[in-house]
Amino acid sequence: MPFDCEVTSVANRGLNHPDVVHTLKRLHREAARRDARVFARALPAIIAGKFTGRSTFESAEPYLSKAFIPVSEEFGRFMYLTALSRQARNIVEFGSSYGISSIYLAAAAREMDGFFTGSEMDAEKTRIAVANLHEAGLSRWSDIREGDALESLAPLEGPVDFLFLDGWKDLYIPVLKLMEPKLAPGAVIFADNIRSFRKTLKPFVDYVSDGANGYESTILGIGSGVSLSVWHGKS
Ligand SMILES: C[S@@+](CC[C@H](N)C(=O)[O-])C[C@H]1O[C@@H](n2cnc3c(N)ncnc32)[C@H](O)[C@@H]1O
Repeated sequence: MPFDCEVTSVANRGLNHPDVVHTLKRLHREAARRDARVFARALPAIIAGKFTGRSTFESAEPYLSKAFIPVSEEFGRFMYLTALSRQARNIVEFGSSYGISSIYLAAAAREMDGFFTGSEMDAEKTRIAVANLHEAGLSRWSDIREGDALESLAPLEGPVDFLFLDGWKDLYIPVLKLMEPKLAPGAVIFADNIRSFRKTLKPFVDYVSDGANGYESTILGIGSGVSLSVWHGKS
């Protein structure tokens, strides 16, 4: 029956591909274990931060260099589906860590026969993220550039259809401005941790909320707050 055939093929595509399922399951489990230990070590700083108005993430930041701090499965799937519906072929990420979000985005790139470019300043994390993309069967459609994204993403060729901002928060605006000349009309920009870094990210939220800068934008209540913007271009 043709209907059965279609269901069988979709069942093995995108995020349903067994290699992607297996790698994401392993990584989400590993991330939960490791990050629980990191946040336990950071607890005294987190408690002290409550008295000075700092968020949990802001207080824990000095402890986070080897943590995963990944997107949730819910947000990863949401970005994947958005990238598919946007038919994004050129997908870029600022801050890849060990590659969990990268796998969701590279899986979308594979569906579109496009390409995913991640960026990670930590050399060990970059190496492991590249290996994780390989384990998920996504090497052909992806690359992670090591080093400061402001340098590593500068030579990237546009048009960029989809941009995910998840590196250190004070760099969201500089990285966005770096990518602006390369954004395709209707490009989608996601930025994570809007509520957990409310103060630090206020200038970013103000920037994408001001229509004069070329965006329409909203904040979604996913996880610790996600900004979703669409690029119209400056008139
Ligand atoms: C929140 S984690 C990213 C999590 C990842 N997106 C995921 O969902 O699995 C932030 C990462 O950004 C990296 N990072 C921070 N500033 C950076 C920069 N200037 N260039 C490249 N990577 C950077 C950090 O090393 C860290 O691994």
